[in-house]
Order: sequence, then structure tokens, then C-alpha cells
Amino acid sequence: MENWWGGIGNKQSAHDRALLLPRLYFQHFTDSSYVIERDGELVAFLIGFLSQSRPDESYIHFVGVDPAARGTGVGRYLYQRFFDYSREHGRTVVRSITSPVNTGSQAFHASMGFTAAVVADYDSPGTDRVAFAKTL
Ligand SMILES: CC(C)(COP(=O)(O)OP(=O)(O)OC[C@H]1O[C@@H](n2cnc3c(N)ncnc32)[C@H](O)[C@@H]1OP(=O)(O)O)[C@@H](O)C(=O)NCCC(=O)NCCS
Repeated sequence: MENWWGGIGNKQSAHDRALLLPRLYFQHFTDSSYVIERDGELVAFLIGFLSQSRPDESYIHFVGVDPAARGTGVGRYLYQRFFDYSREHGRTVVRSITSPVNTGSQAFHASMGFTAAVVADYDSPGTDRVAFAKTL
């Protein structure tokens, strides 16, 4: 994760970032999460889920594309696939968040048709987030 996220410039340490992907995601969210490999090497992944509490919504928790493969449509492909899965399960809204310093993620979500709003203290006091939403 350090290689894939290291240049983004937020204050998160590699250890903090790894905590965003505890094993439970690979146990309980696999139907709605994807990996792309080439020759046995990880190229990209998306971790998402159908909201348990909001029956109209699904949520993308985490997405990453190998820096060498960025800008070639891999992220779009993963998102489209998750949108299809969400529609098949009756979801009409997809949500996601990113940190305000992650301008690449914001540009990507804008290209994918998400609206964006900065929410102060989203995760804890002083931890602002950009909240994305897209109607399917
Ligand atoms: C954000 C990320 C997933 C995008 O994946 P990607 O495979 O490079 O994106 P795609 O090639 O599918 O691009 C899809 C669209 O987004 C746009 N886009 C993607 N990254 C962009 C960037 N950094 N700046 C501007 N536009 C960008 C593309 O131009 C494209 O637009 P178009 O289809 O309208 O021409 C990838 O850059 C990444 O892994 N970043 C680091 C991890 C991260 O920030 N994850 C998200 C928050 S956790």
C-alpha cells in the first residue's frame, strides 16, 4: 500500500492505511469486492458492499490501481462493475469518501459522475472528508 498510496501526501502512515483493510473485508464482503491480476501480480482492487442499513445504497470502501496501470480505464471498469452489481440488487445510490488532499481521487470520482461535498470532522474532530454520491 505504501507504493500505491505513498505519494498522495496525506498524513496517514503506512500502518494506518493498512488498518483500512482488515481481514474481515476478505471474509464478509467478497461478493461485492474485486481484484484484477496480471501474471499473478495484483493490478487493482475494489472493496465495496451493499449497505445493510440503507436499502437503496451501496458503498465503495476502498479502491486502488497499480501506478503503472493508472489512466488506462481499470478504475472505471471496476466502478462500472460495482454499479452493475448494485443495480442488480436494487440500489440507486453509491457513496464513497476520500481525503481532501487526494485530488486524483476527486478527479476520478468527478469523471465517474459523482457529486462531491467536503464534510468537516467526518471521521473524528479535525478529520475532514470529501463525501461522494452518485445516483445510478
Ligand atoms: C483513483 C484511481 C483508483 C483511478 O483509477 P484509474 O484506473 O487510474 O482511472 P481510469 O483510468 O479508469 O480513469 C477514469 C476517469 O477518471 C479520470 N481520472 C483518473 N485519475 C485521474 C487523475 N489523477 N486526475 C484527473 N483525472 C483522473 C480519467 O481521466 C478518466 O476520465 P474519462 O474516462 O472521463 O476520460 C487510481 O488513480 C488510484 O489507485 N489512485 C490511488 C488510490 C486512491 O486514491 N484511491 C481512491 C481513494 S481510497
